[in-house]
Amino acid sequence: MAIIQTIDLTKRFKDLVAVDKLSLSIDEGEIFGLLGPNGAGKTTTVLMLSTVIKPTKGTAIVGDYDIRKNPDDVRKLIGICFQEPKLMWVSTPWDVLNWHAKVCGLSTRERKRRVKQVLEHVNMWDHRRKRIHGLSGGMKKRVEVAKILIQRPKIAFIDEPTSQIDVVGKHKIWNMIRELRDEGSTIILATNELFEADVLSDRVGIMHKGKMLVCDTPKTLKDSILGGDIVEVQLEKEVTKNVLDELKGFKEVVEVVVVKSDDLRIHLNKVEKVVPQIMNLFLNERLPISSIRMSEPSLDDVFVHYTGLTIEEAEQKSKSR
Ligand SMILES: Nc1ncnc2c1ncn2[C@@H]1O[C@H](COP(=O)(O)OP(=O)(O)OP(=O)(O)O)[C@@H](O)[C@H]1O
Ligand SMILES: [Mg+2]
Repeated sequence: MAIIQTIDLTKRFKDLVAVDKLSLSIDEGEIFGLLGPNGAGKTTTVLMLSTVIKPTKGTAIVGDYDIRKNPDDVRKLIGICFQEPKLMWVSTPWDVLNWHAKVCGLSTRERKRRVKQVLEHVNMWDHRRKRIHGLSGGMKKRVEVAKILIQRPKIAFIDEPTSQIDVVGKHKIWNMIRELRDEGSTIILATNELFEADVLSDRVGIMHKGKMLVCDTPKTLKDSILGGDIVEVQLEKEVTKNVLDELKGFKEVVEVVVVKSDDLRIHLNKVEKVVPQIMNLFLNERLPISSIRMSEPSLDDVFVHYTGLTIEEAEQKSKSR
């Protein structure tokens, strides 16, 4: 069941259409990855849905409420982790989080317990008494993420949670986001990291130039790329014409590239289904295999497929928008 439904949601900044008639439906209890390059319109979408900024046109229903007509009701349901941390610079991580927990209505006892627990989880316990302005970028981001983990809202908007955070911290935060979802929160995760979107999201929407290009589960998106699976086979002898013909005869095989006479790259669909038959073909033809490597498309390939650009190229273009 949809917990968020946008209706032609649009935001203009003078001549620039940052979000362009976006129609999007997010189900209750899912992690929805809003993926796209810099300038795609992810943050603008999140800020409109969380009632921080107003749409130019169109609207959205969040929970049962219209973001234009009932923004106060929407605010009771949501929490937001900003891309740019909005922390009180004169304060300390402990004070910021304790205050946030108070605003969220937690009792003194529960507040102490939860603030300590989350500070430990995001590895900020030892830094809890330091001034915010003296923290590194990654540490500030950890405090910003901690706010939503303390609040545990029904709908959590999380904008680039791990952009400045080291690898160990990333995995911890990903696990905590999953826990939040498992407890029943719906999570909207804006990110330009394809890997992050892939490992966390139940569904992913790829945004580009303010529009939603495609939206589905990471697996379906990857499977939608015809010939996206690749099997690389290194043989001990030269490949025969007969084997090449037979390979091309499989309905799943899209293309066979002969890199060298004993080195093949097979582009196909449903690799898991046909690879045993391909192995048998080589065995039956007495062509020993010295190595075999399989790969599936990544979300990166999906992005390239739908936009015609690599994410880096799309970022370059967004700079000239
Ligand atoms: N307050 C603003 N005034 C003018 N233009 C803005 C404003 N906020 C965003 N924009 C423009 O709107 C477009 C979309 O920006 P947005 O921040 O939503 O992108 P994003 O997908 O979140 O990018 P990133 O991956 O860099 O966070 C950009 O071209 C940006 O320059
Ligand atoms: Mg952003």
